[in-house]
Amino acid sequence: MFAQRPDPRPATVEVFVGDAALRVPEGSTAAAAVMLAGLPAIRETPVNGSPRLPYCMMGICFDCLAEIDGVANRQACMVTVRPGMRIAPQHGARAARMSA
Ligand code: FES
Repeated sequence: MFAQRPDPRPATVEVFVGDAALRVPEGSTAAAAVMLAGLPAIRETPVNGSPRLPYCMMGICFDCLAEIDGVANRQACMVTVRPGMRIAPQHGARAARMSA
């Protein structure tokens, strides 16, 4: 007779930002997870070491470059979280990966 209302809480997934485990809403970006984690910076510029956090959240500024699941230079704002994803700060310049 009565239909059960859907659970209004979004499903969450557990990711690791730095060394900390964190639950974030399913479908979030890795950059959003970084912001939720409250890190002071996700990367440092290679020129003078200035700290950076995600800024544009749409793939333009590259201030969200991070090491995601062991791969450096990932734009965290363009990556959707997966359970168990490891997002680590990136310090300085990393070698560019070239594909043949
Ligand atoms: S936050 Fe600007 S490119 Fe990701």
